Amino acid sequence: MEELSSIGVVGAGTMGRGIAQVLAQKRYRVVLCDAVPSQLERALSTIKKNLNRDVEKDRINAAERDQALANIRVQASLEELKGSALVIEAVSEVFGVKQHVFAELDRLCEQTTILATNTSSISVTQLAGTTKRPDRLIGMHFMNPVPVMKLVEIIRGLQTSEETFLATRSFVEKLDKVPVVVNDSPGFVSNRVLMPMINEAIFCVYENVATPEAVDAVMKLGMNHPMGPLTLADLIGLDVCLNIMETLYADFSDPKYRPCPLLRKMVAAGHLGRKSGQGFYRYSP
Ligand code: CAA
Repeated sequence: MEELSSIGVVGAGTMGRGIAQVLAQKRYRVVLCDAVPSQLERALSTIKKNLNRDVEKDRINAAERDQALANIRVQASLEELKGSALVIEAVSEVFGVKQHVFAELDRLCEQTTILATNTSSISVTQLAGTTKRPDRLIGMHFMNPVPVMKLVEIIRGLQTSEETFLATRSFVEKLDKVPVVVNDSPGFVSNRVLMPMINEAIFCVYENVATPEAVDAVMKLGMNHPMGPLTLADLIGLDVCLNIMETLYADFSDPKYRPCPLLRKMVAAGHLGRKSGQGFYRYSP
């Protein structure tokens, strides 16, 4: 994928907007799609805010900020993605929702278009199997916050071709991110290791072993984690954490991945973390 090629990003939530920002700053033309107009508005204002902070901190100049913003177009419909060399899907972490998006993309896009999924735990092989181009579907898993985190986990599905893999890896390198290649397995490596740790931290609160503050302090000060697991869960979104635990639990059929009842309860109450203003901690709007 050459600079200035057009890349589609589907889903303007936390991950989609972060991905769009990174691509635009690397001089790709981005079409950011979301069916919900308010999500697109929010995405653009977050990206502007981030770029303005970069200007204030002298990391980029005003012209670079304006160019990055000019590289992003927002669209409600997927039709605009027809000519994209690559489309990155970053919609909700629900199989049916992703399947629906891929069916549309498969129908609309050129046969040569690579379809990538930013899924954090759903089987890439299974998603690929719902399209007519399983060889051109691959996992491209960015970390939150996307503009800051270096890792992109590249997940090869069973049918992902060598050509698709090589093109994806070299694209990720051009973004100044570090690709790490893993095979398709529930939660891949990142969330197979991270989510059980977060879930266990939630069990500590549920079983009244310690307060959220104490759990986080132990992991920050004792293990040098940049943020405690419950602060991180709030950043990721408790609904996302629950979805990932559900996938691990179902796909491995192993009780060690059982989501903590407190996690279920918080999601049911709409306490989703930072994005809803309330999670293990409270956030001002
Ligand atoms: N967007 C853009 N930039 C951001 C940002 C965001 N959302 N959040 C923080 N930053 C930038 C800040 O601008 C800041 O840079 P400057 O100070 O130079 O301006 C820098 O990151 C550090 O931020 P802070 O000083 O506010 O706070 P910090 O030092 O605690 O760092 C952090 C914040 C980078 C998020 C750090 O706490 C951290 O690394 N936390 C762990 C994050 C992590 O584990 N992410 C992976 C989550 S798992 C995942 O994403 C996969 C999944 O499938 C669930």
